[in-house]
Amino acid sequence: MKDVDISLKVNGRRYDLTVRPNMTLLQVIRDRLDLTGTKESCGMGECGACTVIMNGRTVNSCLVPAPQADGADITTIEGIGRAGLHPVQKAFIEEWAIQCGYCTPGMVMSAVCLLDKNPQPTEDEIREALSGNLCRCTGYAKIIKAVQKSAGMLY
Ligand code: FES
Ligand code: FES
Repeated sequence: MKDVDISLKVNGRRYDLTVRPNMTLLQVIRDRLDLTGTKESCGMGECGACTVIMNGRTVNSCLVPAPQADGADITTIEGIGRAGLHPVQKAFIEEWAIQCGYCTPGMVMSAVCLLDKNPQPTEDEIREALSGNLCRCTGYAKIIKAVQKSAGMLY
């Protein structure tokens, strides 16, 4: 299989890359762009650790073939709160919604995407938006509370 040229925008910066056709977007983000805030866990679309925002929607970047990201506009955890922590990140800290932290970047990206579209979500809407993000540590209650709190901080 031949390598593929792709051009994508990540956190507002354009990158022109040549990638193997079987590379994933997650591999591009972590291994080619050195943006290691996005985590890999299951590698099968089950856990949400690799969540990024692509063209306004959350995706599991481990499932996106790199060639499909050609022309895409992507935001990773490094792209939010560039002037300091994003309100969602602050709320996660204040509400003790982080333990090992491995799920946190993906959780935060799902929450940011939700709040961009729905600034005042109900608890059910928050749970639905985070349903693809698994956490082994926190039991979710503090994560939900952090998202509710950040909704108040943001708007
Ligand atoms: S690493 Fe992508 S969903 Fe688990
Ligand atoms: S804080 Fe450890 S997996 Fe969520």
